[in-house]
Amino acid sequence: MSVVSYRTAGGVAVLTIDNPPVNALSHAVRAGLVEGLERAAGDAAVVAAVLCGTNACFSAGADIEEIASGLALQAPLLADVQARIEAARKPIVAALEGTALGGGLEIALTCHWRTCAPTARVGLPEVKLGLIPGAGGTLRFTRLAGPESALEAITGGAQIPAARALEVGLVDALAEDAVAAAIELGRQAAADGRPLRLARDCGDRIRSVRPGLFAEFRRNITRRARGQLAPWRIVDSIEAACMQPPEAALALERAGFVACRDSPQHQALRHVFFAEREARRIPGIGAEVKPLPVRSAAVIGAGTMGTGIAMSFANAGIPVLLREAAPDALERGLAQVRSQYDGSVKRGSLTRERAAAALALIRPASDYAALGSADIVVEAVFEDLRLKQEVFGLLDRAAAPAAILATNTSSLDIDAIAAATSRPEQVVGTHFFSPAHVMKLLENVRGSRSSPQTLATVMALGRTLGKAAVLAGNCDGFIGNRMLMFYGAEAEFLLEEGATPEQIDRVMEDFGFAMGPLAVRDLAGNDVGLLIRKGRKLPADERWSPILERVVAAGRLGQKTGKGFYRYEGRSRISDPEVLTLIEAVSRDLGLKRRSIPDQEILERLLHPLVNEGARIVDEGIALRPGDIDVVYVNGYGFPAYKGGPMYWAEQAGLERVVETMRRLAPTHGARWRPAPLLERLAATGAGWDARAR
Ligand code: COA
Repeated sequence: MSVVSYRTAGGVAVLTIDNPPVNALSHAVRAGLVEGLERAAGDAAVVAAVLCGTNACFSAGADIEEIASGLALQAPLLADVQARIEAARKPIVAALEGTALGGGLEIALTCHWRTCAPTARVGLPEVKLGLIPGAGGTLRFTRLAGPESALEAITGGAQIPAARALEVGLVDALAEDAVAAAIELGRQAAADGRPLRLARDCGDRIRSVRPGLFAEFRRNITRRARGQLAPWRIVDSIEAACMQPPEAALALERAGFVACRDSPQHQALRHVFFAEREARRIPGIGAEVKPLPVRSAAVIGAGTMGTGIAMSFANAGIPVLLREAAPDALERGLAQVRSQYDGSVKRGSLTRERAAAALALIRPASDYAALGSADIVVEAVFEDLRLKQEVFGLLDRAAAPAAILATNTSSLDIDAIAAATSRPEQVVGTHFFSPAHVMKLLENVRGSRSSPQTLATVMALGRTLGKAAVLAGNCDGFIGNRMLMFYGAEAEFLLEEGATPEQIDRVMEDFGFAMGPLAVRDLAGNDVGLLIRKGRKLPADERWSPILERVVAAGRLGQKTGKGFYRYEGRSRISDPEVLTLIEAVSRDLGLKRRSIPDQEILERLLHPLVNEGARIVDEGIALRPGDIDVVYVNGYGFPAYKGGPMYWAEQAGLERVVETMRRLAPTHGARWRPAPLLERLAATGAGWDARAR
């Protein structure tokens, strides 16, 4: 079976890519396209050609597995396919019935014209894999849509809806039947002898580039693109697409692609891409276990978490009841939802219509009786076991018998919550991250009696909500927060020993974390952090630093009170000498002589506890695989995706080196530096995580 089929329709050759699941441009596809294009060129009865795809997709681009193989790609390359298109004497039209991403869009942009189904989406997402387009995408996109659109779309990697693609000039027509429209367009163009239009030669959109555009854009992405390779190379390439002849711009783009492809950042992001997909697979739960359809949902509690969760459902088109007993609290929650949507519209991230449609899906409810229609109920009330048990008892009686009852607890025992119901097999944890409508992680937690179907449903729910779902076992803190406990504790030990909040946060932010640990504490609330800590069991030979308690006692609760580990003016954080005085007093009380701590030590002291606890979590089966932990940390905890997550980072560093460092630090820093048994076992043989099962 050929992966590119060839047929003719009234004098137009139709080349259809059929390479499931996503029509990736493997060698066979490239060869099939070249063959089809040659056949169309040589057939006197054919006046034009159309390129399209099956599987509700044009093509999702280069085959990531093929790039990953590290082997030189076998000819024909994508550039060879494109050279055939650009050399053609007959019109060639791309019909985009579904997704056209990366190399898929690059092929489409090489064609003379493009038709597009209204539901299709296009984009150049290479940046998300630490790459830049490598087949003229930056040149052709820029020349068709102009540099402003190109900069935004290609450095962000977002998928562009069809209507927008038409508006900016990436496609030429929208049609329900994009293939029929493309056939017609090709035939007409041939009949009219219309000049064949090549994107590379289009000059209109680059004629009057606003002076200073590129310098300004580079300034704007300084924070977002910090430490990364690809975004900067993309800006360079788009600038070249405006300022240089096509050949020179293509050469610059190619050099950028090769540099990125060979970089550790691409490897790390590729790891995350595959880890996110692997995380969906639960051993023992095969395709025969069908997830329950989630057609409607309910959320209990209209606080920050509850409203964010309700918005997640609404954004995915799922009607959701937001339940809160007190009318004023319910009104506050709804006001928060409205203001979030208003903000998105103002920022331009959501159209007014889409915001209104989502808002209309969120309906308030004040009692439990209204919940009977929900397929899933997510509880997001205060983090207190008794309260949650009480809520689950009520939910059990009010919800439909088949409904799943989920808790958003971030650390409580799922089984204890399930015990309050008559349906423990339908009880599960769905731990969202704040703000829930923005953060991409969904940490699902398996109770001892959660049924395979319940688990399959919440894993599928992650996908429906556009989130990366990971399954965790039921333990104190699950995956993410359990690991965080040691990371947070270590940051305070470093403060006691001589570091400052500024230094610690700078080191971690330079490493690539979105925020350093103390800035995160201030954001989440130091009182909340302290409360969680008090609920934790500490190993007998361990202690907490008193710093957090003292910070809270001084009324420095974090951003919400305008001061915590920093002082805040608006959202900008400012060093506060009072904090240093407080920390120095703790050092004095503990009899510690403050010293200057090298940045490298800070990095080691904070990353190793994450890895070590991660290894225990894998060993205990709380996480199914090390890659799942990376997915959790990258999507929920601000770990830089281009470093692959803590477990990937450790493997790249060498597990034996990780163990060595821990042993070096153990004599001074105590029992918590004892390497986890799994780490020791693997380090002893020089193996990586994959060897753990052997
Ligand atoms: N090359 C190879 N395999 C790919 C692929 C690609 N470009 N894109 C997707 N796949 C695989 C996935 O690994 C997955 O495999 P699995 O089922 O064995 O886990 C399968 O195709 C389906 O992809 P998935 O992401 O689960 O489906 P989706 O419907 O949620 O999303 C896409 C589809 C195309 C939007 C998404 O897969 C995507 O963004 N792919 C990457 C596109 C890209 O970056 N292209 C440029 C490459 S340089």
